[in-house]
Amino acid sequence: MATTLTPILSAFWDDPKSWSLETYTRHNGYKALDKALAMEPAAIIAAVKDSSLRGRGGAGFPTGMKWSFMAPPDGGPRYLVVNADESEPGTCKDIPLMMANPHVLIEGVAISSFAIGCEHAFIYLRGEVVHVYRRLLRAVEEAYAAGHLGKNVHGTGVNLDITVHAGAGAYICGEETALLDSLEGRRGQPRSKPPFPGAAGLYARPTSVNNVESIASVPGIILEGVDWFTGMGTEKSTGFGIFSLSGHVKTPGQYEAPLGITLRELLDMAGGMRDPDRALKFWTPGGSSTPLFTAEHLDVPLDFESVGAAGSMLGTRALQIFDETVCVVRAVDRWTDFYKHESCGKCTPCREGTWWLKQITGRLERGQGTEEDLDKLLDICDNILGRSFCALGDGATSPVTSSIQYFRDEYIAHITHGGCPFDPKASTLFA
Ligand code: NAI
Ligand code: SF4
Repeated sequence: MATTLTPILSAFWDDPKSWSLETYTRHNGYKALDKALAMEPAAIIAAVKDSSLRGRGGAGFPTGMKWSFMAPPDGGPRYLVVNADESEPGTCKDIPLMMANPHVLIEGVAISSFAIGCEHAFIYLRGEVVHVYRRLLRAVEEAYAAGHLGKNVHGTGVNLDITVHAGAGAYICGEETALLDSLEGRRGQPRSKPPFPGAAGLYARPTSVNNVESIASVPGIILEGVDWFTGMGTEKSTGFGIFSLSGHVKTPGQYEAPLGITLRELLDMAGGMRDPDRALKFWTPGGSSTPLFTAEHLDVPLDFESVGAAGSMLGTRALQIFDETVCVVRAVDRWTDFYKHESCGKCTPCREGTWWLKQITGRLERGQGTEEDLDKLLDICDNILGRSFCALGDGATSPVTSSIQYFRDEYIAHITHGGCPFDPKASTLFA
């Protein structure tokens, strides 16, 4: 049976004022909070654990487990920090979600904060999206005025404040500990782990850092129940997720579907390739930090296990689709430039390695490289992967190694042709 879309977080994005409290309330908004406030906090954590919800920010760490790993209460503050610094190339799900339905995130923050004993939560948003910042501020104000936030939430004696914080626009600030440093007012650079934020996070207090979509999924789990959630997706990758389709696809956008759907099915729903006469060449299952897939992977179920078994990662479900007109060497050169630029410089393998990767992909793309350069690229990747301080370094190697794995001939063609063998006018992406 064909998989169908499961519009849950995106259920009423088409409503004229989908972002308003009035619309959210009409769609059962804040009922899950009522239900949660009548539960024991431990029961909420147990429900999220039983749902097997895995973090939707890319790493897929189980959300309920992360909460239960927090240091036990000692009378001091405990924090929830929502990672809304969506920056992975190709990822476009948290920003549309916050624009179209900010209240589902706010309700999720309220429930999650109550569960972990937090009275002050933060939403850390990337700095460039001023329109989202304004929308969130307005929604938080509405929620305060309606008694969903502030002192004595829903008359239960529970208190919760939310601060929306805009970062300054650095990819590294999506790494949870760099985010915390940035939130504390310092330059955002990753901290050593352990201690994990659950033990010592914001202001060295127990902190849970969770992605927007993870927290927005919590109200549904509480209101509709664990079985409802686990009834979607696969046995180990339960529930639904927002898949962002971009590139050479007829109808790019966000497609909310059960985990385990395939790109072939998603492409059907999105009207197919932008030009039906042009074949799919390569794609990213989870943003550019995940190894590339090709047309042979069209039927890989997009769940954590299957994508991993096929040699990549589900990541942020950012499906960037490239047709046969796109030069893979050029695409990799562009991504590598991004990682070189965004490397925070803290550790040598990534700081120096991404610089060297960019030098070599650049000269290969210009037709000035040699076959030896391909071995050099792989050697540098080998010295970055697993030797860098945070996941940015590892991510930088993914497009390079996977493109050489699948498209070595195309690199060689650049060398023998003395430049890109593609007609640049044919490609509608990198024109
Ligand atoms: P990670 O696997 O190190 O950690 C994931 C989460 O689990 C963290 O919150 C961490 O604190 C927690 N955790 C892991 N082990 C733990 C333990 N033993 N005890 C307690 N907590 C533990 O991955 P990381 O570095 O947080 O994220 C990397 C991923 O982020 C990449 O795979 C990539 O897909 C994704 N990413 C997403 C971006 C976006 O825009 N959404 C941007 C860049 C990367
Ligand atoms: Fe900074 Fe890169 Fe090292 Fe991460 S891997 S700490 S981004 S230099």
